[in-house]
Amino acid sequence: MKANDLKFEVDDGVYPPAEDTYLLLDAIELESADSFLEVGCGAGLISMAAAEVTKSVVAIDISLNAVRNTIGNMKLNSVGERSGVIQSDLLGALARDARFSVIAFNPPYLPEDDSVTELDHVFVGGNSGVELTERFILQAIPHLEKKGRIYIVVSSLADIERISDFMESQGLKVNSIAEAALFFESIRVLQGSA
Ligand SMILES: C[S@@+](CC[C@H](N)C(=O)[O-])C[C@H]1O[C@@H](n2cnc3c(N)ncnc32)[C@H](O)[C@@H]1O
Repeated sequence: MKANDLKFEVDDGVYPPAEDTYLLLDAIELESADSFLEVGCGAGLISMAAAEVTKSVVAIDISLNAVRNTIGNMKLNSVGERSGVIQSDLLGALARDARFSVIAFNPPYLPEDDSVTELDHVFVGGNSGVELTERFILQAIPHLEKKGRIYIVVSSLADIERISDFMESQGLKVNSIAEAALFFESIRVLQGSA
């Protein structure tokens, strides 16, 4: 998937699209028949790129700033007609019977430390950095269509093997489909197939 000529603004307190955003964007393969859910949409770039290809998009973020930012960017590009943007803690606000063929999350993955900042929701993934991702996996699986796919960004700063093992323990077939070396870490995209 490509961002092509999508324009976007990044509001205060919202994660600005970075290497991890573009790695995930490039790794996700979508077709017109797909129904796409992005958890943690931030400024909305990935959801907007998906909206250009698929029949429907739902974008979720726990941050109201991010939700408003995504709605604004969708309007800027006139791509939101078949999209819903929802404020929710992970998939909690979805109807029980909502199903998607593709679900993606570029999660916060840093381990907690003693400092607390207003941007913790963007960077901190739990006590050891993976708890939020594990909670996401548990919530996402019941919302996957048969033969659906989950895409997750993982970092060497957290425990990649723990996440991969956890996905397998929940019945997903896991493949590492993209990788990038950054300054202090390497990041990967894991694809889990139902
Ligand atoms: C690393 S940013 C990624 C943003 C965007 N998807 C991108 O790739 O540029 C992580 C996003 O997840 C959101 N987030 C964190 N915890 C969440 C939760 N429990 N439920 C939904 N979204 C959450 C954050 O607010 C943030 O927008």
